[in-house]
Amino acid sequence: MSRPPLRALGLVVGFGVHPVLRGIDLVVPDGSRLALLGANGSGKTTLLRTLAGAVRPDAGVVEVAGRELVHHRAGLRAHRQLVQLVTQDPDDQLFAADVCRDVSFGPLNLGLSEGVVRARVAHALSVLSIEDLAERPIHELSYGQRKRVAIAGAVAMEPQVLLLDEPTAGLDPRGVDEMVIAVEGLLAEGTTVVISTHDVDFALWWADSVAVLADGRLRHGSPPELLCDAELIDVARLRRPIVSQVAAELGLSALEIGDIPALVAAIRQSCGVGVKQVVTP
Ligand SMILES: Nc1ncnc2c1ncn2[C@@H]1O[C@H](COP(=O)(O)OP(=O)(O)OP(=O)(O)O)[C@@H](O)[C@H]1O
Ligand SMILES: [Mg+2]
Repeated sequence: MSRPPLRALGLVVGFGVHPVLRGIDLVVPDGSRLALLGANGSGKTTLLRTLAGAVRPDAGVVEVAGRELVHHRAGLRAHRQLVQLVTQDPDDQLFAADVCRDVSFGPLNLGLSEGVVRARVAHALSVLSIEDLAERPIHELSYGQRKRVAIAGAVAMEPQVLLLDEPTAGLDPRGVDEMVIAVEGLLAEGTTVVISTHDVDFALWWADSVAVLADGRLRHGSPPELLCDAELIDVARLRRPIVSQVAAELGLSALEIGDIPALVAAIRQSCGVGVKQVVTP
């Protein structure tokens, strides 16, 4: 059965000067995948931190599992059992001497028994395919490995909602694929996943919906609709996804094409022959 969504209503966040978020409403259905886009400095990290309870908004509320986030010790503790944020830079998050100790820190802090903690850590390391790193000192790991350990730490908390701030930034292409596979595993288990990213091509094929921040406001809607909106693309300093550009060049409906297989199928269907006859001059 689906649980109540992650919901933000009227969020206003400033840091003493102009508001970064000027009244944000957002509903992320349980078990869904949302890509959060926007220019540098548009407020993606601020929004994720606010949803996670790390930033207290000047106005507005955050709700998860039907419960409003309250910014006192017990309220934040309860919220963090449901919503986990993984920071853009893993070094902002990792602090223990080795991988196992870092990933087990959160569950141990919940007061869970040793056996349960061990099982949670084993599961988190397996989801991220880093069982082999369990005993390694954090300072010896590569950037991509540290990113995975940081996510494993959040996964071990078994949150309902996982907020990942640019999880694929700085990873090599294979590393991005492996990260996506790990996230698919979490989605299959029913976790709601929000990913902030600058990668419009990834957002188009991966997300159920996209949210775009610009000028402190948020547009939320279907990936092809928003990522093909010329005005929004301009104000949010994005670009149209490659498959949408190709579809438009070929006179196909870019709104119905979300990834390369769909583009190839549409080309085949529209000409009734091989792809080469369409794309080769
Ligand atoms: N703790 C803070 N104190 C003061 N200003 C802040 C603070 N955190 C963020 N800001 C400001 O809020 C704005 C949004 O920053 P934020 O980090 O949320 O953007 P972003 O969309 O995540 O950018 P990027 O794509 O570079 O990660 C920026 O102007 C930033 O300087
Ligand atoms: Mg950021």
